[in-house]
Amino acid sequence: MSLADKVIYQIYPKSFYDSNGDGIGDLRGIIAKIPYLKKLNIDMIWFNPFFVSPQNDNGYDIANYYEIDPLFGTMADFEELVAKLAQNHIGVMLDMVLNHCSTDHIWFKKALAGDEYYQKFFYIRKPKADGSLPNNWTSKFGGPAWAPFGKTGKYYLHLYDKTQADLDWHNPAVRKELFKVVNFWRDKGVKGFRFDVINVIGKDEKLTDAPKNTASKLMYTDQPIVHQYLKELNQKTFGQEPDAITVGEMSSTTVANSVAYTRKDNHELSMVFTFHHLKVDYQNGQKWTKIPFDFSALKNALNNWQIGMSQGGGWNALFWNNHDQPWALSRFGDPIHFREKSAEMLATVMHLLRGTPYIYQGEEIGMINPNYQKITDYVDVETLNAYDELKKQGLSDSKALAIIQAKSRDNSRTPMHWDNTVNVGFTTGTPWLKPKDQEQINVAAELDHGEIFPYYQKLIYLRKHYPIIAKGSYEPIDLEHPQVFAYCRLYRGQTLLVINNFYGQKATYGLPASYQGQKAQTLISNYDKNFQEVPKTLALQPYESLALLI
Ligand code: NOJ
Repeated sequence: MSLADKVIYQIYPKSFYDSNGDGIGDLRGIIAKIPYLKKLNIDMIWFNPFFVSPQNDNGYDIANYYEIDPLFGTMADFEELVAKLAQNHIGVMLDMVLNHCSTDHIWFKKALAGDEYYQKFFYIRKPKADGSLPNNWTSKFGGPAWAPFGKTGKYYLHLYDKTQADLDWHNPAVRKELFKVVNFWRDKGVKGFRFDVINVIGKDEKLTDAPKNTASKLMYTDQPIVHQYLKELNQKTFGQEPDAITVGEMSSTTVANSVAYTRKDNHELSMVFTFHHLKVDYQNGQKWTKIPFDFSALKNALNNWQIGMSQGGGWNALFWNNHDQPWALSRFGDPIHFREKSAEMLATVMHLLRGTPYIYQGEEIGMINPNYQKITDYVDVETLNAYDELKKQGLSDSKALAIIQAKSRDNSRTPMHWDNTVNVGFTTGTPWLKPKDQEQINVAAELDHGEIFPYYQKLIYLRKHYPIIAKGSYEPIDLEHPQVFAYCRLYRGQTLLVINNFYGQKATYGLPASYQGQKAQTLISNYDKNFQEVPKTLALQPYESLALLI
């Protein structure tokens, strides 16, 4: 399977479609919607975790890697799902959460009961001589990264929630168990794997304090041993599959490391998720702030990754949205005045770049942030911790809520809008998370008369039919432009010019002199324009996108 012309769709099972009325999406719900998925012509679906879990972090706290959580269905449902997707030429990508497991996992329970073999599965440490925590690292979900290990007086490391205990990859027995998990799912016909926060598995065994004023993540991210572990993972599991597709979620990584993670001859992963282009609406690098996005930073991030990965022979996953991000349409587009046009513009930017595009459920119908009016409508652990923290910092309820509305992970976790009936057609019961009151945005309406879904279909079609999109190199054009992000793709003497107006104001855009007057084919335009040659200037409409093949 060649990677370059594939498009992957992401399903958040909890919020996709509920087949049994318990308010929670499930595997049979996904089976019921295969005809819808087929319409997009996607190649593979990444499913967020549906393994047995207490759901403290919505399934990223796994208590049993080998079983389907009854919330979502049964193993028979899963096998049927894999088979039915295969009949439709859609592959399955599972989410492997191998950096940590739930404190409800038998390994942790045995460790807690005193079993030394399993204690070595985790980072369990004594306090420092002065009684303080083993080190000064902080959890990504707020507070210290250490929690008391029962009544032993010791602590265990958790980089995420305190119910997600970090596994010690230095221990070969841990690696063996985790590789067994991957192979178990391979035996069920799974060929795609997404590895959760996989670049933090290589903590230095000494667990040294972060120096003063240094973020603790620098102490454990992208350590050289991660490459060694990934090579071993590759060799002992999916590397035996010629058409496996893998993606590593790389937190705060670098281009150099990501090249190394994904270069074919390194035998690590097929591609990586990186996040620099999404941190452009963070004030001073802090997520829980609310500022307009920095357009120039956004372009520079995309541009640097495109160039760096291309020059190094690496491969990027291309995405705007996932279950951890507020909707890109609400952040970088205009969901009120130009919902369709800005959704299409964002899609054009991403789908015509070099890499493998991912579409997050609901993106293809232009879903937007729900802006809940009460903090009690939010359920995500990270969000609720952040709200408490903002209140502690002295922010008023309304200021703290405004930040939560802009940044919460629940924004994209709201149930998928299927139609405009009660609960947006997601469930006949009470949905686990409130849908947004926005009946006009739903699959039924979009398929009936919408323009975003057909636009996505076209972008996917183009990638499969124009090798320049799948295989071409990348070059920026006029990177300094205050309103436009333009780039070209180059392949075997052809050029694809991609021009995107990122704002709701019109713009006059001068095309590079070297292309003016040349014969061209308009591959896509969200304003139905059709150029047969490259004009001197373009009168760009709000959020206009255009791709010209020369
Ligand atoms: C990244 C996942 O995408 C996120 O949802 C989760 O909370 C953390 N990893 C911890 O597993």
